[in-house]
Amino acid sequence: MNIDVFTLFPAWFDWFKSQRHVTNALELGHELSFVDLRASTPLKAGQVDDTPYGGGAGMVIRVDVVEAALRARYDVEPLELCGQRRVVALAPGGRQFDEPLAQELAAEPALTLLCGRYEGFDERVHDHLASDVVSIGPYVLSGGELAAMVVCDAVIRKLPGALGHEESALEESFSDALEGAPEYPHYTRPFDWHGHTVPEVLLSGDHARVREWRRERSRERARPDPPAGAAG
Ligand code: 6GU
Repeated sequence: MNIDVFTLFPAWFDWFKSQRHVTNALELGHELSFVDLRASTPLKAGQVDDTPYGGGAGMVIRVDVVEAALRARYDVEPLELCGQRRVVALAPGGRQFDEPLAQELAAEPALTLLCGRYEGFDERVHDHLASDVVSIGPYVLSGGELAAMVVCDAVIRKLPGALGHEESALEESFSDALEGAPEYPHYTRPFDWHGHTVPEVLLSGDHARVREWRRERSRERARPDPPAGAAG
């Protein structure tokens, strides 16, 4: 898979790209690049943003700046790029990122992530240059960089070989193997910690019972919490 992250702060990703599952993925031939949005701006003095039409606080990243960055990187007409690769703009108002979307993106051959800053992108970036607008949750971050790291992390760990231990990705939270439910609880030594012991079934050596217990705990966690104040 080929992932390009467009950002005004490529240095934010220095730490991320040195993490083990990322370096594993790169060694397997996957590609991860960080493109400085400012480097290709057609405006003077490295300008990338402008004041919002209609007034108000903050600055908006210009659509022509994003267009120029995409054209410089891909040498194609930017309006046609999202027919060729998935182009995801990261913005707090976007579609909520979740495990099925991570799965979907991990199956793409190529992915472009656009990180907004300040008040975000001119809406025409979302409407005409991106194939998707994605948010990582209902809160506002100061930019799309952390969101892009979240998306990259969730996607990269799904690439075969990236984790170095395939089993653990198979039966993890929200996976098909667990019928989309959160993962069951895990325990390791010590058996007895301040009187809190490990469920006996896990020491039974009975694999069928262990499997059944884990499925049940996982399903339990999938059930919505009862409304506050509900009896029982
Ligand atoms: Cl993708 N961007 C920003 N700025 N804030 C967010 C977000 C994205 N997702 C949740 N909050």
